Parts: sequence; structure tokens; C-alpha cells
Amino acid sequence: WISLGTASLAVFLIILGISAVHGGHTPAASGIETINPEHVREDARFSEPGLKEATDGDHDYDLYFLASAFMYEPGEVEIPAGSTVKIHVTSPDVVHGFQVVGTNVNMIAEPGLISTYEMTFDEPGEHLIVCNEYCGIGHTDMTSTLKVV
Ligand code: CUA
Repeated sequence: WISLGTASLAVFLIILGISAVHGGHTPAASGIETINPEHVREDARFSEPGLKEATDGDHDYDLYFLASAFMYEPGEVEIPAGSTVKIHVTSPDVVHGFQVVGTNVNMIAEPGLISTYEMTFDEPGEHLIVCNEYCGIGHTDMTSTLKVV
């Protein structure tokens, strides 16, 4: 039975490996931008994270967030109602979550990768941003606020 278990694990890992490489399931093949987590704070986008007017694409703003143990930078952000925002999130340390409560924005902030999601915020209001990936002792204190004004 142990041989059978080992053999099916081997088959599973081979299928997973082939699917990842040939199916384009790796971050690089999916077009996800990579970043050296040790130098995140030297990157102009994440050294002063926050809302910036978009310079390309059809969105109005780029919103950069740095998720680190145990805080988000910025700790609060204001977005003009009706604007389309491309959110970029990364982490310099461990895996964090990035959920904007009450919206479809729910990403993983992974060291080495920049997660992005484009969203139009029509309704004025206040959204809590929470970390939904257990990241350590301060996990429950890890929040930010997104205000649509
Ligand atoms: Cu960061 Cu949980």
C-alpha cells in the first residue's frame, strides 16, 4: 500500500510539474511582474506607496500598497468616486492577504510578486482593508482604510 501511495504521489507531482510549465501556470508565464523582496523599499512605486495618477492603460489611477508585518502602507487612502483604479500589492517579508471588504478585491501579497487588480469605485463610502492570510502575531491588527469620496 505504501508503494501504491508513493507511486500515486509521484504521478500527481509529475502531472503538476508538466501542467505548471507547459500550461503556463507559473507567475512569469502568467505575466505577473516579479520584484526582489529585499529591495522593495528602494523601488519608486513602493518606497512611497499610495495613489498616483496613471501614466498608461485605460485606468485613472495606480494605487500601490505595501503589505508588511504587521501593517499596510498607506494606512489610509482616498479615491475619487467613479474612478477606475489599478491596485498593485506586494510584500517585503511574508505572505499577506489584501481584501477590500465589500468589494471584489481580494488578493495575495506575496514576496517577490506584484499582485494587481483593476476596480472601479462608484459608490462613495469607506472600506476596511484586511489581511486574510495568517502572517504572525500581529495578523489581526493588520488593516488599512480605503475611502471613496
Ligand atoms: Cu498580514 Cu495576516
